[in-house]
Amino acid sequence: MQLRTIILAAGQGARMQSSLPKVCHALGGRPLLHYVLDVSFQMDPETLSVVISPNTPDVEQVIDEFSATCGCKIYTSLQQEQHGTGHALMAAYEHWKKATGPVLVLFGDTPLLTQATLEKMLNAYQQDPNPAVVVLGMQCTTPNSYGRIELDAQGDVAAIVEYQDATPEQRNNPLGNSGVMLIDGAKLQGLMDQLTCDNAQQEYYLTDLVLLARAQGERVMWVEGCETELQGVNTRIDLSQAEAVLQKRWREQAMLAGATLIDPHSVYFSFDTKLGQDVTVFPNVSFGPGVRVDDHAIIRPFCRIEQAHIQEGAVVGPFVHLRPGSVIGSESRIGNFVEIKQSEIGKGAKVSHLSYIGDTDLGEGANVGAGTITCNYDGFAKHRTKIGSRAFIGSNSCLIAPVEIGDQAIVGAGSVVTRAVPQEALAHSRVPQQNLESGAVKYRRKRSS
Ligand code: UD1
Ligand code: CA
Repeated sequence: MQLRTIILAAGQGARMQSSLPKVCHALGGRPLLHYVLDVSFQMDPETLSVVISPNTPDVEQVIDEFSATCGCKIYTSLQQEQHGTGHALMAAYEHWKKATGPVLVLFGDTPLLTQATLEKMLNAYQQDPNPAVVVLGMQCTTPNSYGRIELDAQGDVAAIVEYQDATPEQRNNPLGNSGVMLIDGAKLQGLMDQLTCDNAQQEYYLTDLVLLARAQGERVMWVEGCETELQGVNTRIDLSQAEAVLQKRWREQAMLAGATLIDPHSVYFSFDTKLGQDVTVFPNVSFGPGVRVDDHAIIRPFCRIEQAHIQEGAVVGPFVHLRPGSVIGSESRIGNFVEIKQSEIGKGAKVSHLSYIGDTDLGEGANVGAGTITCNYDGFAKHRTKIGSRAFIGSNSCLIAPVEIGDQAIVGAGSVVTRAVPQEALAHSRVPQQNLESGAVKYRRKRSS
């Protein structure tokens, strides 16, 4: 069966009170729209198109980023002015006009939807004769402003009444409309031709297809989904609730896959965080996108980790910031108040306290003393530092990049290293110490006289 999928994402999202289009807002480390694109592709559609509004480069970029990572074709249709969800589907006309199979209409603002739920809709559609429309509803337990699904005596859908148009009695109906619809492509044109905007919002409601189909004697079925999964994001409060749902899903997945989260509620994941087996994550750790943690690694409290790879058995934290491009070698130790960026830390190496390691290759078993700074930026360009295996960098050293420290070399504490240090050499660049006999006594006397 050939399925065509159309995502409506041209709405202004006014209730977000934002200069950024709603579907570009971040959820679990990526834009809202990416979740809807993801679940759409899981349905293996013949074509996938997104309805967007003109002059929204942010939305176009979000779509381009997705198609670049998945290597798939995504069509876009422009809805010049926003006159409702039915009007948005009209804008995608060229992508459904030739449809003979089902057309799946999704909303860009309903990100938590799963493939299993969409499959349930497809199953309902595949009856003989097939219904003209299948809608996805939910039993609502909390007050909301979703459209209400009204059933007939057979339990089929008689109508969907938008909240703004509903009587108080209709609003009390707990059966809410998720907005997701599966429509018989062969009947779509005939229904769309009759759509009007005679309602409270003066909009073309997609939901009116139900009444129109019924008026033609067609069957309209509904499938039940779960309220949390079908949540639409209209405000930032909704966005935070959707985030909470995702975080709960991811925490549970991580634990079921063999990671220990000591206080799951205080660990924040991104959509692509990967934790290996027997990884332990202490409280208050947040993972940005692009993080992989291999087996047996330990992440101690209060770490922020983004675009980084922590290898087997490494121990990171407390209070560590791993920025993009950090590879933390197996069995290495990264201790408190250390920031690492674009650097590769060798197997078993140690950076235990208060250091900045940027654009650096740190060799196996090397030891970086407290307060070491790689001075990677000269105000114009970034430069690399290379530290050999089993090298020892004394505390409070500045390594001015580009610079290379040889294998097993030692840098004395407090040094400012500007030139290469050969293998096994000892470098120090401190001002020689002077001791003035009774100097302390003389100094105090002078100050208190
Ligand atoms: C819609 C449904 C409502 C349902 C709710 C579920 C209609 C008329 N109402 O209401 O029954 O309970 O979703 O979340 O369908 N869009 C466009 N162009 C437009 C208007 C909207 O592309 O002109 C897109 C939006 O970007 C959004 C989606 O359609 O992704 C839904 O629009 P929205 O205005 O949020 O509809 P709701 O009021 O939530
Ligand atoms: Ca909505």
